Amino acid sequence: MQTHLRGRDMITTQEWTRSELDSVFEVAKELKRARALGKPHAHLRDKSLAMLFFFSSTRTRASFEAGMTQLGGHAAFIDSETTQISHGDTAKEMGEILGRYYDGIAIRQCDWGDGNKYIREVAEASRVPVLNMQCDVYHPFQILADMLTIMEKVGDPRGKTINVSYAYASSYQKPLSVPQSLILLMARYGMNVRLTAPPEFQLMGDIVEQARENARRSGGSFEQLGDFDAGFKGADVVYPKSWGCWLTTEDKEESAKIGGKYKDWITDSRRMALAKEDCGYMHCLPADRNIEVTDEVIDGPNSWVYDEAENRLHVQKAVMALTM
Ligand code: CP
Repeated sequence: MQTHLRGRDMITTQEWTRSELDSVFEVAKELKRARALGKPHAHLRDKSLAMLFFFSSTRTRASFEAGMTQLGGHAAFIDSETTQISHGDTAKEMGEILGRYYDGIAIRQCDWGDGNKYIREVAEASRVPVLNMQCDVYHPFQILADMLTIMEKVGDPRGKTINVSYAYASSYQKPLSVPQSLILLMARYGMNVRLTAPPEFQLMGDIVEQARENARRSGGSFEQLGDFDAGFKGADVVYPKSWGCWLTTEDKEESAKIGGKYKDWITDSRRMALAKEDCGYMHCLPADRNIEVTDEVIDGPNSWVYDEAENRLHVQKAVMALTM
């Protein structure tokens, strides 16, 4: 159990050691148990968290806000529509100023090429920990929740196969942050990671290389496939979700046209039957129902999506309690 995490930023799990991440899971389980038993756990009494949202959110906002209250503190919702964070206020100013008001600064900024840069600039100027609530590159709290869910469902993740796959969605060009953070962390914990995507939907090359290296060090494996059905074969866990073809084009119309070629990349019962019988279906949500995944699968017995969403609360509380 690591006890030296006060003041640390959580921008990507790659910057935390395995033993530090294990401490997060240990504390998350303890806090989950305490909440289930109705045991007060006000570890952050009188502390407050600034939550800067440049993009909309349901789960992230709700779970950070509820989490801070349960820890005895307060979370302030600061969005780009009603404040000056997206015009005028610079990243450096926000780090300096909000770091003097609050005990932690959490940020969601997903603009392609800018989000991670913004969060790092705030962190550089801030005297308090900065927590990444999703950027263009990483979504660490989602993936910590996903790992906790996998541990709860299958036990030791080593040697289990997870298929991180592109799926079609018509809504909008989503960030690469979920699949990128997934391949990094799952490979770190010794899983056999499959990344399945059409040629236009590749992830950032340096992230893929880091995932490959993580797998090599952990005794797991990493492979890339281009066939949707093949990704499901024999998998213990499947995580098919939509993301944008950012490395191919940033143009909305062009990306919609490219995505349109893959409308049949939908998770349905036939695909699930290719995986192991007890294979878990995961999705960070929101999902484009009956476009990315059928109701039958997402509402079916193999779906872990509600436990996965719940675990956002517990891992975030653990990181906040350890760092703030
Ligand atoms: N999974 C997730 O981050 O959900 P929100 O975008 O609703 O916060």
